[in-house]
Amino acid sequence: MSNRARLIVGLQWGDEGKGKIVDHMAQTHDYVCRFAGGHNAGHTIVVGQRKYALHLIPSGVLNPDAVNIVGNGVVLSPADFIEEMKQFDNLEGRLFVSDRAHLLLPYHALIDRAREKLKGDKAIGTTGKGIGPAYGDKVARVGHRVGELHDTKKLCDRIMEHFEMNAPIFEVMGLEIPRKEALQKELDAYKASLEPYITNTTLLIRKALCEGKRVLLEGAQGTMLDIDHGTYPYVTSSTTVSAGACSGLGLNHKDIGEVTGIAKAYCTRVGNGPFPSEDFGEDGERLRKRGHEYGTTTGRPRRCGWFDAVAMKHAVQINGVDRVALMKLDVLDGLDEIKVCTAYRFQGEEIDYVPYDLESVEPIYTVFRGWKKSEGAREFDELPEEARDYIAALEEMIGCKIGIVSTSPEREDTIVR
Ligand code: IMP
Repeated sequence: MSNRARLIVGLQWGDEGKGKIVDHMAQTHDYVCRFAGGHNAGHTIVVGQRKYALHLIPSGVLNPDAVNIVGNGVVLSPADFIEEMKQFDNLEGRLFVSDRAHLLLPYHALIDRAREKLKGDKAIGTTGKGIGPAYGDKVARVGHRVGELHDTKKLCDRIMEHFEMNAPIFEVMGLEIPRKEALQKELDAYKASLEPYITNTTLLIRKALCEGKRVLLEGAQGTMLDIDHGTYPYVTSSTTVSAGACSGLGLNHKDIGEVTGIAKAYCTRVGNGPFPSEDFGEDGERLRKRGHEYGTTTGRPRRCGWFDAVAMKHAVQINGVDRVALMKLDVLDGLDEIKVCTAYRFQGEEIDYVPYDLESVEPIYTVFRGWKKSEGAREFDELPEEARDYIAALEEMIGCKIGIVSTSPEREDTIVR
């Protein structure tokens, strides 16, 4: 009988503040594992005087006793991964990359950007990192896996064959096909840096669970960006929901224990696509300023709006969330009124579920009384009555307990109920 892993997932459009909770939980776990996405994800961790930027390496890297795993469901840019690794010493033996993870190579990023440009005003607003093209190659069965770095000559030949077959596409996009010698050199450099870390991570995690180790699974992006359950086509290209943790690491559903879903007390989104509760006025601007809502990976200003309880209920159900961590409650401090989207108007009717076409819904709001200050509260009872009422109402609407409330970026300013 093996132990169960704990899972953290984003419930909105990413940037929910997963970093604060994952960093905190990583301190008490033996293994921290990434299961989806690539270096489109990102958060910054400050420890003492030093700042660390994490995009691909799991957050457990800051716990010297934790083992960090990049699972098969991730698309790995070797160049970016190697650069990120330089921030840390002694990673051997505590960082592992699945031999089945797919390689994201520079041409994927070129294709991503060229496609976005060609789409004009229909662009997705991707991070431009090559995520879509890398997953596209994987699903089309023309991708290349990290394990192939063991034999770079063979890998180089395969990639060159791929280029030859796709020459017309490169031409249309105005992209140059890389030269074989340069590609071989690049792959050799990746191999030299990464080979000690490449392994069968599915076996590693299974062993860890069987030995009773504490395993944390770290989701990236959010439910509304999931390839199936998000606002397609304005989504990322991976399974960001809890089911992705199984396929992206080689686990089965019985391996998953407690699921913590992360949500902000309001909503944000970067890139294009539907966002029913977006606020285009002063309140939206205020949330952006107070919440420092600018992308960590791209620096883009995030679109801001109100908590969407309909989308959140959808996310709670799809992920099997046991408890929600409500982040950045303090950003709402000082507002007279706080809106929550409690239903949508869709094709003339009021609905309480996420329809196929989220683009054409109109939000229906319930207005709550605001409060002066929640910032820095560490106990539920320290919160103003209106904030407690707001949280209780959200729990009722989304059908899940809000077990954690964050009231500032500081680790200690967290209420656990
Ligand atoms: P891609 O993942 O770069 O293909 O981008 C697809 C969509 O997902 C775009 O709207 C991005 O802004 C969004 N996205 C990707 N990664 C993140 C993230 O870590 N946080 C928030 N949005 C993201």
